[in-house]
Amino acid sequence: MIDTAGTIPAKPDPRLSGRAVKRVAFDEATIAHRVAELGKEITAAYPDGDLLLLGLLKGSFIFLSDLVRQITRPLQVDFLVAASYGDGTVSSGTVRLVYDPETELEGKDILLVEDIVDSGRTLNRLMTILKERKPRSLEICALLHKRIATELLYPARFIGFDAPNEFLVGYGLDHAENFRHIPYIASLQ
Ligand code: IMP
Ligand code: MG
Repeated sequence: MIDTAGTIPAKPDPRLSGRAVKRVAFDEATIAHRVAELGKEITAAYPDGDLLLLGLLKGSFIFLSDLVRQITRPLQVDFLVAASYGDGTVSSGTVRLVYDPETELEGKDILLVEDIVDSGRTLNRLMTILKERKPRSLEICALLHKRIATELLYPARFIGFDAPNEFLVGYGLDHAENFRHIPYIASLQ
């Protein structure tokens, strides 16, 4: 159904409720290949210590589940739920935690796993909150990075792909809670 990255699918995808794909930015095979590489990079970067991957819900749920299976060292998984005030496709900048991880963070190597870095405001706020918990280290792994953030306080250490400055859906990313289950990443018409 999907050919190569950047192409238009030949047939309409029944998962898209009639919305047309403008462009498949990253197809399934491309994502799987890069996630496997990221797993190796992360495994090599943490030779010791208690590694805790903190997935930022909901967007990271598919990426995180694929990523942890490519990391070949002990680790733990927990989640964060952040809410930004205001809605829509532009982030407002004010972020609060609506689910706080129950796992102790102090002394651990924390890797915050995010679907996409857009303005970077969500990460700036969350990193500031997490730093106060005295982890041994604190880094960011983002599947996608739009490279448009001008005010990033903490650059991501692990990045899957540079993303086009388009609104993307699939592989966990949503538009109004839809399309998270699409196995590739696409922009919509
Ligand atoms: P930031 O705070 O502007 O960096 O926004 C990050 C959050 O906005 C991500 O975790 C996503 O939930 C959402 N977001 C940003 N860009 C996109 C996109 O292209 N598609 C879907 N969600 C996006
Ligand atoms: Mg979202």
